Amino acid sequence: MKGIILAGGTGTRLHPATLVVNKQLLPVYDKPMIYYPLSALMLAGIREILIISSPEYLPHYRILFGDGSALGLQIAYAQQPRPEGLPQAFTIGRDWIAGEPVALVLGDNIFFGNGLGPMLRRAVGRVQAGEGATIFSYRVDDPERYGVIAFDSDARAVSIEEKPERPRSNHAITGLYVFDADVCDHAAALIPSDRGELEITDLARRYMEAGALHVEPMGRGFAWLDTGTHDSLLEAAEFVRTIQHRQGIQIACLEEIAYLQGFITRDMAEARGKALVKTAYGRAILTAIEDAPAPLPFGERRAGDRRRG
Ligand code: TTP
Repeated sequence: MKGIILAGGTGTRLHPATLVVNKQLLPVYDKPMIYYPLSALMLAGIREILIISSPEYLPHYRILFGDGSALGLQIAYAQQPRPEGLPQAFTIGRDWIAGEPVALVLGDNIFFGNGLGPMLRRAVGRVQAGEGATIFSYRVDDPERYGVIAFDSDARAVSIEEKPERPRSNHAITGLYVFDADVCDHAAALIPSDRGELEITDLARRYMEAGALHVEPMGRGFAWLDTGTHDSLLEAAEFVRTIQHRQGIQIACLEEIAYLQGFITRDMAEARGKALVKTAYGRAILTAIEDAPAPLPFGERRAGDRRRG
């Protein structure tokens, strides 16, 4: 299973803050925005990752992550010359995907909640077992801003609409999608919508109509935040700060996740923690290697975990 982070876009709703900085490099409280979607892919157990961004900003991501080896990942990069829609990820990434199943996450989406890792790994397992695609729904108060999914009385998805004027439900489609290997062919067959973009809702609808779409609800225990406007960006930062302060934990500390997932060695984690020791982020890495890892929900094992019997 591979993973793509789509981190291009124009960020017009965040102007002038994004006139010379790519949105996904802005901080959400104490770390770059892209750390959060990357953490979701890592929690899903995905280690081969493609970052897609506009040509002028790709060099910044290369400086930030290099080849990914410091996190136990293999990170590749690709250009999206113009933001012409989310499914372009699969035409731009086609050669890199090389016929494997692939997850896509939007660079401005934050996911947080107990059991997120196991939920994502179950979705990956389903897709690897040939069960089409999994998308995640989340109840929101303002569904007209999102792709909206409606269900029948048996909880089967019956309609998917992009930013509908009259939404048929309050269930928005989040910016995280897990697709089987057919996704590149489906994406290539899409035609642009009236607003001139390829639409991820059209892609999901193709799976739904083939009876191959699994919709996983993210319930009350989860936070799904997007950071596309000044207010939502500040709210997300406040959310991260509140949880981190209250619980003394880190959200999206990549080295901590890499260590606990068995992607990097203790020495690698320790060196990184020491380099960042002036910050709560760095100290969280050091704490993670001192503590025995907390038990995972549902009796699951971490990938590569050798310390637990
Ligand atoms: P949007 O919020 O739809 O667009 P944007 O980031 O360009 O912002 P604005 O509406 O303020 O102009 O994009 C959602 C996410 O997907 C965001 O992380 C950017 C990314 N994206 C791409 O990388 N390429 C694309 O073609 C599109 C449409 C979005």
